[in-house]
Amino acid sequence: MPLQSSRLSGFHQLDVTTRQQRVFDACDISEEVSDLFVQHSAPMLGCADVMIENAIGSLNVPLGLATNLIVDDIDVLVPMATEESSVVAALCNGARQCRDSGGVKTTQVGQCMIGQIQLLDVSDPQACTTTLYRHKEEIRALCNSCDPVLCSVGGGFQDMQVRTLPVTPAMIVLHLHIDVRDAMGANAVNTMAETLAPYIEQWTGARVGLKILSNLADQRTVRATGVWPLNSIGGEAVRDAMLVAGQFATIDPYRAATHNKGVMNGISAVILATGNDTRAVEAGAHAYAARGGQYTALTQWEQTKEGDLAGSIELPMPVGIIGGATQVHPTAQLCLQLMNIDSAARLASVIAAVGLVQNFSAMKALATEGIQRGHMSLHARNIALAAGAKDNEADQVVAELISRQSINTKTAAEVLERIRGTSAL
Ligand code: MEV
Repeated sequence: MPLQSSRLSGFHQLDVTTRQQRVFDACDISEEVSDLFVQHSAPMLGCADVMIENAIGSLNVPLGLATNLIVDDIDVLVPMATEESSVVAALCNGARQCRDSGGVKTTQVGQCMIGQIQLLDVSDPQACTTTLYRHKEEIRALCNSCDPVLCSVGGGFQDMQVRTLPVTPAMIVLHLHIDVRDAMGANAVNTMAETLAPYIEQWTGARVGLKILSNLADQRTVRATGVWPLNSIGGEAVRDAMLVAGQFATIDPYRAATHNKGVMNGISAVILATGNDTRAVEAGAHAYAARGGQYTALTQWEQTKEGDLAGSIELPMPVGIIGGATQVHPTAQLCLQLMNIDSAARLASVIAAVGLVQNFSAMKALATEGIQRGHMSLHARNIALAAGAKDNEADQVVAELISRQSINTKTAAEVLERIRGTSAL
């Protein structure tokens, strides 16, 4: 029976289990499907209900652990939450191949998030700009008064910038540069921007429009570099093919989008595992990739004078280790501990390193055997398991799916039926 109405009055007031039942009834969900869902969701139900509205359960994403990575001379295990097979294996392989050269090195550029305050009905942009700069110390004091705890640990207002956007009538934007220390910082920055708004209107006579954080966090970027020795990647031909692959992504936005998607396969998996905001980091990364006016690759690849392959990545990394889901979600807490993370800056370094190494592995596969061979055996395993293969049957099903070049659940079910028929004899 199709859903009668999406108006589920009073839904948010129900407890989670009653909400589940109401949805199962409204959407005519079978007992088999709903029982499995309830079982699957049970451990996270309380947490989900605290974290979001109208919670009905949780979606468990696989959590893998990548080994072999060294970042700034310290070994680190990397938890990755992802539904995509081959992402974790690719990071392990890429990280192993740059261990001999010392792993990945990083540098942080700034700790500041940007808050934007939009000023409208500006009659004299030049005068408005001057007025704003004249009130810089009051702006600093008002921002800092919003978060004394942040100030007590060395954070708070650092600087401001006034931008005039090229439109008529004039639009001015005030940027607040706020050092948010170990937080992601959205709440602190948004509170400051909203607190300032009436004062800005009073000083400038302009009307304040939006007051919100910018996800183009270019005052909080991280740069990671790594060298892959020629002998670890398989020689000059592989290096040269990878260099051309890198060049392709640099000059062609169509390729850059896929290249950067591969970078984000690693980055978003760690962001999610640590309870950080995947959309914030993704939006910032893609906006940063387009900052020159044309969307381009987030990584650069070159040959060192010794003939090895060197890669670098630079992107905004607005992540935190306090506040939000990082503290509420038990898996995020475990992941931060597994990584031995003691600051947002260290987390940012590890994540940038992951993005670089992930890109190395994707490029190497693409420039040599293509990604389907490695990808397909993992994909075939997922298909085999989805078709009901038990652990002791999966290898045989996978091998046959690959050799028949028919990786789908129908073939998997056929193979499984045959194996079981044979083994029952
Ligand atoms: C697939 O998830 C990611 C890749 O397409 C990335 C790339 O093309 O660089 C393999």
